[in-house]
Amino acid sequence: MTDWKAAFTTTFGAPASAVSARIWAEVYGEEYPAELDTYSFVTRSDLRHIAREAWLGPGGRLADIGCGRGGPGLWVAARTDATLTGVDIAETALASARRRAEAMGVEAAEFRVGSFEGTGLDDGSFEAVMSVDALLFAPDKPRACAEFARILTPGGRLLVTTWDFDGQPANRPPQVADHRPLLEAAGFDVLSYEETPDWRTLQRRAMELSLERVNDLAAESGDDPNRLRGSLEQTLRNQDLMTRRVLLVASLR
Ligand SMILES: C[S@@+](CC[C@H](N)C(=O)[O-])C[C@H]1O[C@@H](n2cnc3c(N)ncnc32)[C@H](O)[C@@H]1O
Repeated sequence: MTDWKAAFTTTFGAPASAVSARIWAEVYGEEYPAELDTYSFVTRSDLRHIAREAWLGPGGRLADIGCGRGGPGLWVAARTDATLTGVDIAETALASARRRAEAMGVEAAEFRVGSFEGTGLDDGSFEAVMSVDALLFAPDKPRACAEFARILTPGGRLLVTTWDFDGQPANRPPQVADHRPLLEAAGFDVLSYEETPDWRTLQRRAMELSLERVNDLAAESGDDPNRLRGSLEQTLRNQDLMTRRVLLVASLR
């Protein structure tokens, strides 16, 4: 099994890939939030949905778990006038997120090392928690859901994009067929559980184009093209086991 902390620390230690950004712009068009340096399949529609359903106002407290370079959380915080705490296992991602917060002029933002299993955040300290395309890396999903519940205030909102799987993808932590029973067991009411539009076609196209341009990607990152090709092919095979990419909204009872 991959050491994800080491892998993501290396990924985010390098500048965001310009080759990938061109591929994502080609595949997602106007829906690609290019200015946020996302490392995910998040769309502008996803971000608007999250901001709308977070029910945050001025002074509201938002946490983004698995925040990566910080773009999605900062966008939602700026849009809702909330304060932001971003958490990720990769310190390199957090360093990049701090620079982004400064560049975006979002002063009420901090970024800390932590994980889905242990965010290090206080009990009941957020009105909303979001997580974009990261929960699949949590090794213990029931524990991650319990951690979401622990850090939210009663009635707090949870907004997550992630994937349900039919089967276990290779080289990934254990996946689940449906996140709703886990969330309900952790004390949430699941308010909506919507498949995001065209997710399979879009993800497949992004991976196919990445494979076509694997030499450009490898030249950019200094990676071995054969290793990179193998990893992209693995990602494509894993995508076949995904049954849906969901944007879920839940509230803590
Ligand atoms: C696909 S990236 C998404 C990043 C960001 N949310 C975005 O949309 O650009 C997955 C993120 O999850 C983080 N991650 C992986 N395992 C984690 C864990 N156990 N706890 C917290 N974050 C984790 C990675 O470091 C990475 O930043």
